[in-house]
Amino acid sequence: MFWGKIPYMDLVWVSESYRRQGVGSGMFHFWEQEMKKRGATILMTSSMEDEPEPQEWHRRNGFRPSGQLTFAKLQETPEVFFVLDLV
Ligand SMILES: CC(C)(COP(=O)(O)OP(=O)(O)OC[C@H]1O[C@@H](n2cnc3c(N)ncnc32)[C@H](O)[C@@H]1OP(=O)(O)O)[C@@H](O)C(=O)NCCC(=O)NCCS
Repeated sequence: MFWGKIPYMDLVWVSESYRRQGVGSGMFHFWEQEMKKRGATILMTSSMEDEPEPQEWHRRNGFRPSGQLTFAKLQETPEVFFVLDLV
């Protein structure tokens, strides 16, 4: 939870042999519904700037980019953040 109230999907991982079969989106939509039931109005996620594939996946699931951060030596590649408004 970001600020203790915005659900933050910090890592989702599907085994390589099961990718592009809807597994990741299925897990995401399950989590999305669970967060809605708990009263969430917005979801967050992120991925590294140089990883276009997961970014495409986030967009495909309705997320929009909302800015990026760098974390000094901990991670020099910027981390792009995405949000999704729940209606
Ligand atoms: C990102 C990840 C979770 C996607 O899971 P998945 O089950 O393969 O994805 P889905 O089948 O739900 O894909 C839905 C749509 O997202 C998009 N998408 C998914 N993987 C993509 C890729 N590698 N490149 C471009 N678009 C992609 C496509 O539009 C896809 O629809 P399509 O297959 O009909 O074209 C999976 O590739 C993964 O585990 N990657 C390694 C870990 C990672 O990068 N996690 C995310 C960052 S935290």
